[in-house]
Amino acid sequence: MKKYHFYSIPSTGFLALFFMITAPRVNAQTVTIPINTDSYTLLLQTDRNNILKTVYFGESWSAGAVPDRYRVGNGVSGDVPNAVYTPSGTWSLSEPAIQLTHADGNMSLELEYISHSTKDVDSNVRLTGIVLKDPVYPVEVTLYYKVYMKENLIEQWAEIKHNEQGDIKLQKYSSADLFFTESDFYLTTFHNQWANEMQPNESRLTRGTKVFDSKLGARAMLLQTPDFILSFGRPASENEGMVILGQLAWSGNFKLEFEIDTYHNLRFIAGINPYASEYSLAPDQTFTTPSLIYTISGNGTGEASRNMHDWARKYRVLDGEGERLTLLNNWEATYFDFDENKLTGLFKGARELGVDLFLLDDGWFGNKYPRNNDRAGLGDWQPNVKKLPDGVAYLVQEAKKEGVKFGIWIEPEMVNPRSELYENHIDWVIRQPERPEFYFRNQLVLDMSNPEVQDFVFGIVDGLFTENPELAFIKWDCNSVIYNAYSEYLKKNGLPQSHLYVEYVKGLYKVLERLRAKYPEVPMMLCSGGGGRADYELLQYFTEFWPSDNTDPLRRIFIQWNNSYFFPSIAVDNHVTNWGRQSIKYKVDVASMGKLGFDIRVDELSENDLLFCKEAISNYHSFKDIVWHGDLYRLVNPYENDIAALMYVNEDKSKAIVFNYLVNNLAMNTNTTNIKLNGLDAGKQYSVKEINLYPGTNSRMSAGQIYSGDSLMKIGLDPGLNQRRQSVVLELTEVDN
Ligand code: GLA
Repeated sequence: MKKYHFYSIPSTGFLALFFMITAPRVNAQTVTIPINTDSYTLLLQTDRNNILKTVYFGESWSAGAVPDRYRVGNGVSGDVPNAVYTPSGTWSLSEPAIQLTHADGNMSLELEYISHSTKDVDSNVRLTGIVLKDPVYPVEVTLYYKVYMKENLIEQWAEIKHNEQGDIKLQKYSSADLFFTESDFYLTTFHNQWANEMQPNESRLTRGTKVFDSKLGARAMLLQTPDFILSFGRPASENEGMVILGQLAWSGNFKLEFEIDTYHNLRFIAGINPYASEYSLAPDQTFTTPSLIYTISGNGTGEASRNMHDWARKYRVLDGEGERLTLLNNWEATYFDFDENKLTGLFKGARELGVDLFLLDDGWFGNKYPRNNDRAGLGDWQPNVKKLPDGVAYLVQEAKKEGVKFGIWIEPEMVNPRSELYENHIDWVIRQPERPEFYFRNQLVLDMSNPEVQDFVFGIVDGLFTENPELAFIKWDCNSVIYNAYSEYLKKNGLPQSHLYVEYVKGLYKVLERLRAKYPEVPMMLCSGGGGRADYELLQYFTEFWPSDNTDPLRRIFIQWNNSYFFPSIAVDNHVTNWGRQSIKYKVDVASMGKLGFDIRVDELSENDLLFCKEAISNYHSFKDIVWHGDLYRLVNPYENDIAALMYVNEDKSKAIVFNYLVNNLAMNTNTTNIKLNGLDAGKQYSVKEINLYPGTNSRMSAGQIYSGDSLMKIGLDPGLNQRRQSVVLELTEVDN
């Protein structure tokens, strides 16, 4: 029988010291696996017991193996906190990454290194798979590290399988188990509320475990997002310092655990939330965890975000490098109160503004239970014959006559109890049959683990496209959390109820997979009662997301600012609405930092407001390429200043667009501060022009002034913000030397 040697021998300080100064011993079979990005290395190495551990994280490592003397504790506690995927029930007494019960009821697991292989997917992407096995039970875990070299980004997940005599039960099945040492750690996480999404919270990690999780089922991000920024040695800053910025890409319950141990090491375990989710895994079945996606930067959050944006556009967001449609939405213009005539009247406004598409929001469906408010009709996806006697097809055609495309809102995973769907298919609804129902926005959630429900949801979208092949856009909403988690389908099929949270999400992905196989291109907006869903697993199927129902432009600056850490602006939808007291100019300028939309009555705009909007949209069409595909530089942080400033620079640094806002209405005089630009070519000359001027106003920037990139970045320029000029947009264009 093999004996394991950890730190169990000494019980006194003297012996511990003796143990630590024993000559370094690099085992002949030591296997070292570097996970390299262009600039950083995550180094994994086996110890003498063949346990794979994290032994280094930092700037590129090329020195081969790390001496076996490498210690992450004082050697007496029995802990080995740096295993790459910590098992439980054997030698590890740390928080496990994986925990299970074997088919025979035994709860111990050991994972030894078996093999690894690396292949180049292309010149930028490298995939390493590492096989770990239990020497006693036929359980195997493969850890995957997909590295996007240039973006310094790692996508990490695990696959679990076994070959036992019966099912094993997985109690915990994390995506990643990371280990860092030799630093103070500062963690920023993001907290959500309806209309107050992505509120950052940064704190220094102290001993113990900090847990960020969701148990909400659908709309999992209502209170907390799976995004994080981990900063080494100092609070996160924009242009300096080592940071890791990332997200668990999972659209259901998630759990992020950050533990500082006795020796000041940090363990970070991320994965699906094990809460009420024990998963029975049959022999020969593979459980694949979602991905933890993180990018590393030694130059602060600015570079980390640009890494993430580049990666997202190129590899993840649907059509991330493509185009988007500007739009006019009717939600705030009409709410549920509309009919065919009112809508076709609004189409004219879309044409007049010069946007690409009209988006019909909630309220167009339901007959026995018309959707005239949010208490009825959800689930009955037939056009309401009173409101829309000629159906959706007529609207598509009428919009076309005005030269605009047509899109539509759906919320296909949900149902109102007052609906025909509920009456006919109560077994499709997540609810406890013996308990009173509990509602969120008067609705319940359909059981996406049920293949019949998956067919139904697929059919809603498929039906809309079959009947209206010219339908050009879908807004896919998801307003409710899951209460009373119970699945009639799982019960009928003898499957554990504890599969529901996981199978819900997998069912949703299956539907989207089918839809994208049939309709690969049509743009879809991910919405969840505002910003309740914005993860990189769903964004494979969606072109964009709705970050918040809060469209007050002042609040929105902060919401957009925080989303910009993780998401490229091409994926973030911003609408100009009646929220907020700011001028229409301020609103349009803010919404232009992303995908621009409107949710207003165009016929109620004053002559000058309309004139301004038309010109600003035409300007937007001229610079949107830089906002969508360029590099973002966050210049002045609105949390620390009376102003906010952000800029986008195109690839060859010949054009840039700079947005400046006054964010503190009490600030009387801000124009003494120059704003230093970033990302320009120091050797180039740029002309600076103010655009989006409100009719009748003049710019305070001297026309035609030329600046060098160097001076714009070192000295900066003053956009002249003040109480009467609360928002200033500047366009920079390279001029010949
Ligand atoms: C959610 C969305 C809104 C709107 C309404 C419609 O709240 O976030 O944008 O679509 O639903 O009911």
